[in-house]
Amino acid sequence: MASSSSSSSSSSSSSSSSRFLLPLLLLCSHLSLASAEEAASAAADLLSEARAPGFAAWLRGVRRRIHQRPELAFQEFRTSELVRAELDAIGVPYRWPVAQTGVVATIAGAAAGPVVALRADMDALPVQELVDWEHKSQESGKMHACGHDVHTTMLLGAARILQDRKSDLMLVFQPAEEGQGGAYYVLQEGVLDDASAIFGLHVDPALPVGVVSSRPGPFAATSGRFLATVTGKGGHAAMPHESIDPVVAAATTVVSLQKIISREIDPLQGAVVSVTFLKGGEAYNVIPENVAFGGTMRSMTNEGLSYLKKRIKEIVEGQAAVHHCSASVDFMEDTMKPYPAVVNDEGMYAHAKEVAEGLLGEKNVRVGPQVMGAEDFGFYAQRMAGAFFTIGVGNASTMATIHSTHSPHFVVDEDVLPVGAAFHAAVAIEYVRKNRAST
Ligand SMILES: *[C@@H]1O[C@H](CO)[C@@H](O)[C@H](O)[C@H]1NC(C)=O
Repeated sequence: MASSSSSSSSSSSSSSSSRFLLPLLLLCSHLSLASAEEAASAAADLLSEARAPGFAAWLRGVRRRIHQRPELAFQEFRTSELVRAELDAIGVPYRWPVAQTGVVATIAGAAAGPVVALRADMDALPVQELVDWEHKSQESGKMHACGHDVHTTMLLGAARILQDRKSDLMLVFQPAEEGQGGAYYVLQEGVLDDASAIFGLHVDPALPVGVVSSRPGPFAATSGRFLATVTGKGGHAAMPHESIDPVVAAATTVVSLQKIISREIDPLQGAVVSVTFLKGGEAYNVIPENVAFGGTMRSMTNEGLSYLKKRIKEIVEGQAAVHHCSASVDFMEDTMKPYPAVVNDEGMYAHAKEVAEGLLGEKNVRVGPQVMGAEDFGFYAQRMAGAFFTIGVGNASTMATIHSTHSPHFVVDEDVLPVGAAFHAAVAIEYVRKNRAST
């Protein structure tokens, strides 16, 4: 890569890797108006291809089949089977199983270049669907309330668009995004070792269908969880002096934890500590032996999360000592990986934004706010140049109320399916074109 870029730029360093070259290449492509126009018209073609009645109907059918049979993290057996059956029908080879239920498809190009990966997640949530429609979830207590059925379908759509085009890319259908860090386990298997960039989409009901949004740099939070156990000495509630009361210790600790954010974090930096449960005791006249509480902590930076962890441990242990109790804090990192922040690579973000503008028009590509939600896409973005975008699924003319993701009332406008399929495909096609242009 490095030795071949001198034709268009005199400033490129001889030791640049493809990742560092990308921003330069993007700059060059901006300068070349003709090729930008070509790209825009190619993008428009992709969108009409995906919106063709037959293609759009196929997308809807796939999405509805996945929606009706939601499966929780690492149990996506039927969904994985459906993905593989569709890939078989299209004639796209894949590796499976990856991280238990995951599927990683590959489409090889003519000339070997940097490989771009496109990613979708497949798992559903433990939510009982309350939307009454023909394709409602048939699994009691499970629902695709976070749109992963849409993500998986859009990526299958991209596979179908891309299979007869010569591009070097990987399509990642990953398990267990909801809290279980499926992305971490996909990366551990080494299947993405050859990828130099990755792109992902997430539905957003607050945006109208046909609109996408993202931002360069830190986009989504890093998050982890904690479980604190405060131990005292149980006894008769009428004689508190003969017990050591963990209830008062825990109550004080919960209040003290609020001071991390209000007194120790720069007010202009985002961070959260939320205690979401508190359990202890059963009787009106018994001081319990233990009280447990736990919750989530989040930050926009990985350093910020380390700080929160350190302080939560210190405060829980310190407050326990003040009350003559003992305490322990478990961050459960072995079983439930904390999610790194999603930090969009500047070059890859600019690339996807430019592609989206060609596809949807400049006014439909927005710069969105940072979000305190977490996404295991952060694991990929830590390892390679990542860009994560949200994609509108709202429709003011058909939806009276916006129901957020994770709501039992969550609905999407299925017109998003061709948009997302074309966006995925265009990001890959243009990535390969730009990188090949330089070799
Ligand atoms: C919303 O739904 C209506 C009716 O189905 C449709 O005409 C329109 O194109 C959709 N999209 C948006 C962004 O409103």
